[in-house]
Amino acid sequence: MKILGFAGSNSSESINRKLVRYVSSYFSEHEVEVLDLNDYEMPIYSMDRERDDGIPLLAYAFAQKIDECDLLIVSLAENNSAYSAAFKNIFDWVSRIPQRKVFGEKPMLLMATSPGPRGGASVLELAKARFPRNGAEITDTFSLPAFYENFDDAKGIVSIELRLQLESKIKSVKERLQI
Ligand SMILES: Cc1cc2nc3c(=O)[nH]c(=O)nc-3n(C[C@H](O)[C@H](O)[C@H](O)COP(=O)(O)O)c2cc1C
Repeated sequence: MKILGFAGSNSSESINRKLVRYVSSYFSEHEVEVLDLNDYEMPIYSMDRERDDGIPLLAYAFAQKIDECDLLIVSLAENNSAYSAAFKNIFDWVSRIPQRKVFGEKPMLLMATSPGPRGGASVLELAKARFPRNGAEITDTFSLPAFYENFDDAKGIVSIELRLQLESKIKSVKERLQI
């Protein structure tokens, strides 16, 4: 079973990447890869660029990573209630690959976290409504509010209530995938 994780952020200190890595640790008996969006940086999507230069190879490379996995673990950074520009750009380019649904009908555990009390609830709602139309089979969603109060780099999620909530979601994902 191959697990592919990524954070919707290009920050080198991304709290969403920390959350993805933490959740990935619950799948340690499987092959886990966590992508860095910085490795998929492309020119800002424009119809003119697509017409003149085509779709960048990095968009195909990102799509291939998705195609090779059995489960996606995603945590989105919230910028002004929406996707980060770094994520949106990759999303847009991959969505332009002919005959492709971005997330390739793969199951996805969809999350968001932010330092604020809403824990990226807006971007989570946005993605929850949209990603199924891009071929994501969202198995569950999880929001971690007030990241710096609820997460410790060494211990992971320190709030018992939030930890139990997440663990129960991870359990159902595993049951669903029979892993
Ligand atoms: C331009 C910008 C807009 C932001 N807008 C929001 C927002 O709407 N809601 C929110 O909870 N946090 C917002 N934040 C704070 C981010 O949640 C915070 O920077 C977080 O660390 C981003 O996740 P990351 O560390 O994974 O990149 C914003 C940050 C930036 C730089």
